[in-house]
Amino acid sequence: MHRLYVYSSTGNSLALAEGLARRLPPAEVINMAFFRETTVRVSGARVGFIFPVHAFGLPAVVRSFFSRVEVEPGCPLYLLLNSAGLPLGAPALAERLLADRAISVQSVFHIPMAGNYPPLSNPPAGEKSRSLADRGEQALDDVAETLRRGDRPTTPGKGWRFLSEVINRRAFLGTADEDRRFFASNDCDGCSLCSQVCPVGNITFSDGRPHWHHRCTGCFACFHWCPQKAIQYNRTNSEARNRYHHPAISRSRYLDWCREGQLSPEVPRKG
Ligand SMILES: Cc1cc2nc3c(=O)[nH]c(=O)nc-3n(C[C@H](O)[C@H](O)[C@H](O)COP(=O)(O)O)c2cc1C
Repeated sequence: MHRLYVYSSTGNSLALAEGLARRLPPAEVINMAFFRETTVRVSGARVGFIFPVHAFGLPAVVRSFFSRVEVEPGCPLYLLLNSAGLPLGAPALAERLLADRAISVQSVFHIPMAGNYPPLSNPPAGEKSRSLADRGEQALDDVAETLRRGDRPTTPGKGWRFLSEVINRRAFLGTADEDRRFFASNDCDGCSLCSQVCPVGNITFSDGRPHWHHRCTGCFACFHWCPQKAIQYNRTNSEARNRYHHPAISRSRYLDWCREGQLSPEVPRKG
């Protein structure tokens, strides 16, 4: 079985994982965020860790997963990162964090996708978002072919690894509290979806309003998936920003993913 462990706030990593699962079956796509505190024992004929770049490095959830994962010796492991096009040394950093735990990686890939970080730039919408998604889908052909052949391409970003580590570590200092910047506007209709998509259970819902509890990892899932565009962020002109999700990952499919930890009828489910 090909097992793909995925972290994804707006569906880019999830869509890439599904595309790769279709190309290299039989496969199952598993939500990394489900393994919050436990040791994760990983095995399979092939295993992939698929996730976005955050702050030129790894998202907090992925760093935490990396610190607890155990990979069966001899199991071929690959990493597939994606970003808005500025990964710096993130791929090399990811490989190093695993090497520090004596976990060796066969190959590391990076695919540029649509950006989803609204404080920095307006996420794409419409045709632009579809063409970026198509480009990502096409890039998977090369990834799948490399994996089939068992090649070991050079890990991207090796020269930038140290800088990535410095920036990525600093980015986490104080992030948890950054959720003070989020609030729900009067457009909030109390659907509570924001609390369901939060990967770290940081949002509770009471009196018909969301409440953030200062364990935020800054992924912006609540911001992007809110059907009313009611979640705002007070550091930017957030009302005017597009809400983004990968065009192939609908809100209901993403919710299934958050609830069940697996997705896609094409991908065989566990058990
Ligand atoms: C908190 C945060 C930080 C990010 N940092 C970077 C970055 O340093 N470089 C970059 O190119 N993209 C960055 N991005 C963009 C994402 O890596 C990119 O949009 C990715 O495809 C999102 O994947 P997902 O939908 O699976 O979460 C960042 C996004 C977020 C939310």
